[in-house]
Amino acid sequence: MEWLNGSRRRWASLLTLFCVLCLLVTPAVTVKHENFKTCDQSGFCKRNRAYADAAISTSKWQSPYTLDSSTVKFEKGVLTGMVTKKLVNTDTKIRLPLKITFHESGTARVTIDEEKRQKGEIELRHGSKARKERYNEAEKWAIVGGTAVSTGAALNKDAEKGSTRVMYGPGSKFEAVIKHAPFGVQFKRDGETQVKLNDRGLMNVEHWRPKVDKPEKEVKEGEEAVVAESDKDAGEDESTWWDESFGGNTDSKPKGPEAVAMDVQFPGYQHVYGVASHAGPLALKETRGGDGKYSDPYRLYNTDVFEYEMDSPMTLYGAIPFMQAQKKDSTVGVFWLNAAETWIDITKSTSSANPLSLGIGGTTSTETHWISEAGLLDVFVFLGPTPQDVIGAYGELTGFTQLPQQFSIAHHQCRWNYVTDEDVKDVDRKFDKSKIPYDVIWLDIEYPEGKKYFTWDPLNFPDPIAMQKQLDDHERKLVAIIDPHIKNEGNYHIVDELKSKDLAIKNKDGNIYEGWCWPGSSHWVDCFNPKAREWWKSLFRYDKFKGTAKNMFVWNDMNEPSVFNGPETTGPKDNLHHGNWEHRDLHNINGMTFHNATYDALLARDKEEDKHNVRPFVLTRSFYSGSQRLGAMWTGDNQAAWPHLEASIPMVLSMGISGYPFAGADVGGFFGNPSKELLTRWYQAGAFYPFFRAHAHIDTRRREPYLAGEPYTEIIAQALRLRYGLLPAWYTAFHEASTTGAPIIRPNYYVHPGDEKGFAIDDQLYLGSTGLLAKPVVKEGQEEQVIYLADKEKYFDYFDFWQYEGPGMVSVAAPLENIPLLMQGGHIFPRRDRPRRSSGLMRFDPFTLVVVLGNSGDAEGTLYLDDGESFDYQSGSYIHRRFKYQAATATLTSEDVGTAGKMTKEYLKKMEKVRVEKVIVVGAPDGWKGKKEASVSEEMAGKSAPSRKVEMEFHAKADGKAAWAVVRDPGVQVGGGWNIAF
Ligand code: GLC
Repeated sequence: MEWLNGSRRRWASLLTLFCVLCLLVTPAVTVKHENFKTCDQSGFCKRNRAYADAAISTSKWQSPYTLDSSTVKFEKGVLTGMVTKKLVNTDTKIRLPLKITFHESGTARVTIDEEKRQKGEIELRHGSKARKERYNEAEKWAIVGGTAVSTGAALNKDAEKGSTRVMYGPGSKFEAVIKHAPFGVQFKRDGETQVKLNDRGLMNVEHWRPKVDKPEKEVKEGEEAVVAESDKDAGEDESTWWDESFGGNTDSKPKGPEAVAMDVQFPGYQHVYGVASHAGPLALKETRGGDGKYSDPYRLYNTDVFEYEMDSPMTLYGAIPFMQAQKKDSTVGVFWLNAAETWIDITKSTSSANPLSLGIGGTTSTETHWISEAGLLDVFVFLGPTPQDVIGAYGELTGFTQLPQQFSIAHHQCRWNYVTDEDVKDVDRKFDKSKIPYDVIWLDIEYPEGKKYFTWDPLNFPDPIAMQKQLDDHERKLVAIIDPHIKNEGNYHIVDELKSKDLAIKNKDGNIYEGWCWPGSSHWVDCFNPKAREWWKSLFRYDKFKGTAKNMFVWNDMNEPSVFNGPETTGPKDNLHHGNWEHRDLHNINGMTFHNATYDALLARDKEEDKHNVRPFVLTRSFYSGSQRLGAMWTGDNQAAWPHLEASIPMVLSMGISGYPFAGADVGGFFGNPSKELLTRWYQAGAFYPFFRAHAHIDTRRREPYLAGEPYTEIIAQALRLRYGLLPAWYTAFHEASTTGAPIIRPNYYVHPGDEKGFAIDDQLYLGSTGLLAKPVVKEGQEEQVIYLADKEKYFDYFDFWQYEGPGMVSVAAPLENIPLLMQGGHIFPRRDRPRRSSGLMRFDPFTLVVVLGNSGDAEGTLYLDDGESFDYQSGSYIHRRFKYQAATATLTSEDVGTAGKMTKEYLKKMEKVRVEKVIVVGAPDGWKGKKEASVSEEMAGKSAPSRKVEMEFHAKADGKAAWAVVRDPGVQVGGGWNIAF
């Protein structure tokens, strides 16, 4: 008995130990593959891959698409004509109207439609009410500019017979060579081919055909109905043309097969980037199998992928069908404007320039194959030649990122959930007590009563106004979640209105669609409907959403949409939206329409009704090309595990080069409990995400930074202070992004497009145009970081001015308390060095300028500054300065690069007392030794005032550290013109 008891005790203690270990170790959770389709399980993807296989393996393959020469017209920058698709073994020709538009910006657009569907001359099955046309409204949501048609584009009369050539673009350096039979387009820059469409003959427009059922007696059980031979292409696999089932859901496919596909080739380009978002490397991998390659194409089908996996082409929450190709000193790109489910195959081939060279010196080319389930074939081509030319042109089309409120680029504290208003206030006080800066605290889905958005749980949040007031006392904000699923429960005013006003998404029969999400049975607001958007706008008014104050902003989640019991956790494809478009047609845009509606609602709440005139802040999980205009995104439900921290950097970099730079990942990891080391490293990395928010699942332990204990808490606080100190540099980078589309954090290839060795580097980043180069530690136990320097330039350690020389690899000490961060010579960047509780409290703080001298001895940088919250900057209420240091005269000057507007003077007056309190010159010339003074001269009323002397300190080089000098309190205004001579 005693023995038994002893054994039991031993088992009990072993069990306890096991449980404790389980709590300590992050559970290895992985995605449920069986819930998501592979290409093989997605009929149209499988068909088009098979089509590609047939084309590639048949030496005599000829694409059946021809541009009828007699139909070609070119007028005012637009070429039109009729492409026909000849069906094998018959004379049937399918008519596909073609339009190629040449834009003033140098972008060309190729659009192909299908005449029969366009004219509505098709029959739908199952009595469907769906629209008959191919979806042609993606541009309505995605495109906001850059479409002025080129007046200079002209036909090149030298075109060979059977082709048409159009010269266009800046200085007519671009040319589109349109081959008529088979149809294909080659895009050239300076006479050299950069992008080829349908060169491999993979173009495929699945034309409409009627489904002809076999006479009943002939159809055996389990046998498919057939299609008339004349409507069919030889060898086509029709088994996936009609109703398709997956995971217990059947898609009724009333329009039959309607995929569009095209091959896009980048001759001589080794690398491609983009098609965000995927959890994988920045430089995209090949997708047709083989060592270290994927065997499935990159997929774009916005979905709530629970516990997503690393290094995978699987789809995630958002889709940006924009790709860039990179070779030495040349970048080109394509934007595939299609909102339906899309797959992209990537392969590379190497050809040698000369057959005897045995592959040495050969060039690698990248071939891509784009496949979408429905919609138009609509592709924009960008010819660069720089990464910024391509990203800028894409940004002109889809819009630049919103200039966000300053608080939103500071530090956010979130968890699912802060449980009461007292809890929120308590966390807020604890941040203050531990002197850790933060700007925003977030509320997840537990704050409303019974997950009914636009309400507050009366027991747990009895006084939300007092809670928001406490936050506002330190200029802090609240962000509350509002999801698109509306609880289907009686006496809930929101669902009652949704139903009575008929504003919800419909099922295939045209009745209100019902599915499951957080609240249980729910309906979904259809933001494609202008009336639904108007209604949504009204819901956020302070008098309607009671308990909300002016410092409350919004988080839109689950807007793919996530439907727990839907196919692949989303809405059925045969659901119907406003205008009777099928969900399949516009799925990837759905999230953006919801985000857009909320953005407009906040704009209406503040700017229009309340004259409060502040910029909205809305975070979204689902996105499409254009979402960057509306607010931030984050990479969804990651895990508290090192590989997820590591993956976050390429993922956020990829968003930046995809025109959506206001991006971040959940700091700390959403699922699981991070070790203190992981949490600390994650804050250090997060300090370099444009969107910087800590978040955690409801089942995780609390992990606010003050709970970590020393030394962790202090190290995290330092990372946060670093972010706050550099906020002026971040804000300037956001301003640049909002005016040029430039990424906020930048990968090596973007900054050094001539450096082939750095094209695949995606674990280090440059911050805007500051020359700051960070490589956060993302591996456990790592204490040293090797950084790649692409150029022949000096780099200095941010903290101790240790000097490094590029090009090559350099090693930087990285014990837990260090963030590997270098300053590239030749730049000047602004800082604010006084620690504060929130960014709003820094509004009138003085600036520090850091001048980093490199090999040329000159340096340059900018500062953009405004009130950080209103739209007044649009009326000139801002300061925009360029600082230049010139070695020849040893002078630092500040010049105005803004355009004065009606509010400029007023703003300058307000900022009159804001000074530059310190100028630090890193890499100062040795000749300054012994200098004790610099002379300052300020511009007064457009003239230089007499100069005055200010104190300066010089610190000579020591142990590998660069010499540096500091001028303390030069007494100059940040908004004024001045120069400092050293
Ligand atoms: C989703 C979000 C996550 C959020 C949770 C509850 O999983 O991605 O951030 O906390 O829903 O709203």
